[in-house]
Amino acid sequence: MNIIGTGRAHPSLTVTNEMLSRFLDTSDEWITTRTGIKQRQLISHEKLEDLAAEACNNALEDAGISAKDIDFFICSNVVNEYITPSLSCIVQGMIGATCACFDLNSACAGFIYALDIANSFFKTKKEVNHILILCAEEPTRMCDWQERSTCVLFGDGAAAVVLSRGDDFIGSSLSSFSCVEPLYQIRELEKTPFITKEEFGGPLVMKGQEVFKLAVKSSLSDIRKVVEDNGYTYDEVDYYLLHQANIRIIDTIRRSLDQDEVKFPHNIRHYGNTSSASLPILLDELNRNQTLNSGDTIVLSAFGAGFTSGACLLNWSKQ
Ligand code: UT7
Repeated sequence: MNIIGTGRAHPSLTVTNEMLSRFLDTSDEWITTRTGIKQRQLISHEKLEDLAAEACNNALEDAGISAKDIDFFICSNVVNEYITPSLSCIVQGMIGATCACFDLNSACAGFIYALDIANSFFKTKKEVNHILILCAEEPTRMCDWQERSTCVLFGDGAAAVVLSRGDDFIGSSLSSFSCVEPLYQIRELEKTPFITKEEFGGPLVMKGQEVFKLAVKSSLSDIRKVVEDNGYTYDEVDYYLLHQANIRIIDTIRRSLDQDEVKFPHNIRHYGNTSSASLPILLDELNRNQTLNSGDTIVLSAFGAGFTSGACLLNWSKQ
C-alpha cells in the first residue's frame, strides 16, 4: 500500500492564546510553555462536511485521480452534527464518489487504525485499487469553553490521503485497553417512556496528567514494537510524525528514543490538537512543502481516548 496523494482543509477563524485569555483565566505564557500551542483554527460558520469534502478533493487532485476511481472510503471521526448517516456517506455524495464507505471512531488514533484497515483491504479484496482515508474532526464542539484545562488544547480540521496498491506500508502496531475515566464525554440520548435509569450528558472530561503519562507509555511501546519487529533501528527512521497533542509529549518520546529534534516535525503551534486529523494534516504539510523525500522511512504514531494507540512504519515513495 502506498500513499499517492494528501490534502487538508482548515476552518478560516484563527484563535490565538491572547484571544482566549480575554474570557478565560489563562495566558499565552501558560499555554505556550505547557503545550506548545500558540493558535488554533476553529469552526465558526463552516460545516465540518464542507471542510471534509475540500480535504478529500485536495488529496484526489494531488493523487491525480478522480473520486470515481476510489474503491473504498474510510472516514475517521469522533463527533459531528449528524449521528446518522455516517460522515463518510455524506462526504461520499459531496465529492462524487460511488464506492462503499464507513466511519470509524478510534479517537485521535483513528488515522493509524484506518491505514491498518486499508492495508488489509488491499490484501483481501482484489477489486480494490484505490482507498480514500479522511480524518475530519471538530473536537472544539466537545469542550466546556469555561474549562481552561481542556478547551485551550483543541482545534478543528480535516485531512485526507489517497492510497494505492504498493509495498510502502511496512507494518503497524495497534493497542487498545479499556480505560474510560481519564478522557471521556457522555452524550444524553432521547428519552423514551420506558427509561427508568438516571441519564446525563456533558462536555469532555479529561485528567490531563494521567492522559499525558498513558500517551507517552503507549506511544513508546507501539513505536518500539513497530520499529524493532520490522528489523529497523531508530536511527534508520528519517521522520517520526507524532499525534500533535502536546509538544512536551512529543519531546518526552523523542528523548526516550534518543533522536534528533529535526526528525520530529510538528505544527501544534499553529493548529492545537485536531484529534485524528492531526497526523494527516502534518503529513500533507510535509508533502506539500517537500520536506519528505522519496525513499524516506517514516513512523506515524497516535493515541487517544479509549485508551487507543497505534504506530505504523512506512516508506515514502511519492515524488
Ligand atoms: O488527544 C488526547 C488529548 N489530551 C492530551 O493529550 C492531554 C495530555 N495532557 C496534557 O497535555 C497536560 O497534562 C495539560 C496541558 C492538559 C496540562 O498540563 P500540566 O502541566 O499537566 O498541568 P496541570 O494539569 O498539572 O495543571 C497545573 C496548573 C494547575 O493549577 P494549580 O492547581 O497548580 O494551581 C491548573 O489549574 O495549571 C493550571 N492550568 C492552567 N493555568 C492557566 C490548567 N490549565 C490552565 C490554563 N491556563 N489553560
